[in-house]
Formats: sequence, C-alpha cells, structure tokens
Amino acid sequence: MSRQIKQIAPHGGTLVNRIVSDRQREEFLSKADFLPKVRLSERSLSDLELIAIGGFSPLTGFMGKADYQSVVLNMRLDNGLPWSIPITLPVTEAVAEPLNIGTLVRLDDPNGEFIGVLELSEKYTYDKLKEALHVYRTNEDRHPGVKVVYQQGNVYLAGDVWLLERRPHGLFPTYQIDPAESRELFLQKGWRTVVGFQTRNPIHRAHEYIQKCALEIVDGLFLHPLVGATKSDDVPADVRMRCYEIMLEHYYPQDRVILAINPASMRYAGPREAIFHALLRKNYGCTHFIVGRDHAGVGDYYGTYDAQYIFEEFEAHELGIIPLMFEHAFFCLRTKTMATTKTSPSLPEERVHLSGTKVREMLRRGESPPPEFSRPEVAAELAKIMHAMAIEEAKTEFQI
Ligand code: ADX
Repeated sequence: MSRQIKQIAPHGGTLVNRIVSDRQREEFLSKADFLPKVRLSERSLSDLELIAIGGFSPLTGFMGKADYQSVVLNMRLDNGLPWSIPITLPVTEAVAEPLNIGTLVRLDDPNGEFIGVLELSEKYTYDKLKEALHVYRTNEDRHPGVKVVYQQGNVYLAGDVWLLERRPHGLFPTYQIDPAESRELFLQKGWRTVVGFQTRNPIHRAHEYIQKCALEIVDGLFLHPLVGATKSDDVPADVRMRCYEIMLEHYYPQDRVILAINPASMRYAGPREAIFHALLRKNYGCTHFIVGRDHAGVGDYYGTYDAQYIFEEFEAHELGIIPLMFEHAFFCLRTKTMATTKTSPSLPEERVHLSGTKVREMLRRGESPPPEFSRPEVAAELAKIMHAMAIEEAKTEFQI
C-alpha cells in the first residue's frame, strides 16, 4: 500500500548521487598520488558530502561562474531553477594557479585524507562585497557568514565532484540518514506528508510548540538538526543531539518522528538560507518546511519575519515544498500554554521568551532556564554540560 504514495520530486527532478562505484574508486585511488591536491575546509567538506548524497540536488558539483552570478543576483541557477545560496569551492590564488582546466583534482578532507575528486571545469575570481551584500544583506565582517566570505580564498574552483565513499558520521552514525534513505523511510511509514525542521539551537518549548502544531496537519515530523560548522559560541552539536534524544524519549510519539542529522554548515544568511533549507529538506523527501521567527538569522541583521516574506518572491510550484510559517512563540502566563500573539490575548509582560544569548549565559553559570522556556529534563542536562564546558574553558584560559 505504502508503495503507491507519490513522493515529492527532488529539486530539479532527479536525486543526485555522486558516490563512486567500487570500480571508479579503485581507479581514483590508483591515481591518488599523481593528482594535484586541494584540502577542503569543514564547510567545503560538508558541501561536497551534500552534493554527493543528493541533498543539494540538482547540483552535481561546485558552481561555475554563470550559476554563481545568477544565484547571487537572482536567487536562481542559470537555468532559472530557484537556488538561493552559492555552493562554491574557494581556494587561494597560489592553490588555483597550477591547476589545469579539464583535469582531475584530488580533494582531501581537513585532515589531509583523500575523500573526493573534482573535475575542474572553471576557476574564477569573484566580488566578495557583492556576494556579501546580496546573499547576507550586509557587508559587515561582524556577520559570521560574511566573515567567512572575506577570509576565504579569492578564487572559486568549479566542476563536477565525486565522493570516494560515504563514511559514517564520527559522532552520530545512527542518525546519519541520507536523502535516498529518508525518502525510503517515509514510504515505509506510509507518510504522504512530512514536515522538515531545521535547527542549530538546543530544543526549547517554542520549537516543540511549532513542530507539534505542524505535525497536527501532516503525517510525520522530520527533525533535522544541523551538525556542520557553526559559529564558535553556538551550542555544540553533540549537546544539542542529546537534548533531542531526551525530548523524543519523554515528549514525542515515536512513530510520528524521525531524528536525523543535517550535515550542512550554517551560513547565517537568514532569508536566503530559509529558501536553501527548504530546498534541502525537499530533497530529503519533506513536503512541508517550518519557518518560524528570524529563521537562520544572527544578531539583528534580519527582520523577525524576513525569512518568511522571501517565499513570496517565488511561485509556489517552483519551490515545490510548502513553507509553514509560525509567529514568534512564547509561554503565555495568562492562558498557561505556549502561544503566539495570534492565539493569546496576553500583554507583553505575560509572555516568557528568552534570547539565545541570555540562555547560553545562564547555562554557562550552571543555571537551568525556567520550565516555561525549556522542558526540565533538557534544561538540567544542558546546564550540567554547558557549565562543565565553561569550567574547562576557564581552566585552559588560566593555563595559557
Ligand atoms: S536556526 O538558525 O536554525 O533557524 P533555531 O534552531 O533557533 O535557529 O530555529 C529553528 C527554527 O525554529 C527556525 O525555523 C526558527 O525560525 C524557529 N524558531 C525558533 N525560536 C522560535 C520562536 N520562539 N517562535 C517561533 N519560531 C521559532
């Protein structure tokens, strides 16, 4: 019966798979010592992986100049398909200079291990300021996404890529569920509609509220925390995953929820990243995607609902996946439930919400956020781990 479910098509129509066959792997390995090498940053490594497993379908490699310029200026690939974030491979001029167009380049992971191959089709310089202003809507290097652009190499390498093998994730092997697998799982469960949830923060009650509101109108919830590179003061991925495990154990129906890792790196590009996050989840097989307040934002660079308004710049059928928009949720002291201003008549002083910065400060002092903000089991675990980390950091600082 479940086989008759018509799943959402991947973006562009076909789920990309750029993981080599055994024969190709042998061939690449035999050439390993003779190929010019490029060592990937953590972000480029996660981009390579996501291309290879189809998370970035229809991309089959790092973007060439035509796609890059079109994405930066128009949020579309050169063929017109919506795409909001450049997927590029930055290197220094010194690294780029000896590489020849039309040849193979060996891609090493940040530890120097041979991980993939690039068929170099182009190398080009680009305008960092223009990329910052269009993609991040600011040229300030205080913005963590812009900072990466300013600090990276001045040349982009482009071309199709191959991944030598899909290695299990070092920390979360059981939660590594790639797009082909999540699609299969959704079918097995008979889910016709699935809502995807992006997050880079420890789960709190507003997250839980919007996830469950969404789950009321679809068949399944795909919890998809980002575990790629984040800025240094974000809560580490292992701590966040632990919080999710606790939540699933106590507060979620097991048969309606799948927890899986999203290997992407965080760009903090707010509105543009919301589109990107939605397309990524479409490739994983989600039909719906949650966009709440200040999605993928940082500091006060974006308006609270800019990441929702940007969906109006596309026709619904072009994106395919349906955004489910949520207002800023809080615990309402008057009605004693989670709510938004759409559903509660409360006055501002009757609403409990805390900023991420405030919560991180509390946790580092070993204080648990209040139960209106965070489930007690999660709050206790977070406070324990984050306080221990703060003590370790202080010790290291003292030794230096
Ligand atoms: S994000 O950078 O991944 O967007 P975060 O993990 O905080 O950060 O948010 C995950 C999702 O929950 C996003 O869609 C965000 O808009 C939404 N969200 C976070 N907090 C709230 C809140 N209090 N009310 C409504 N939506 C929220």
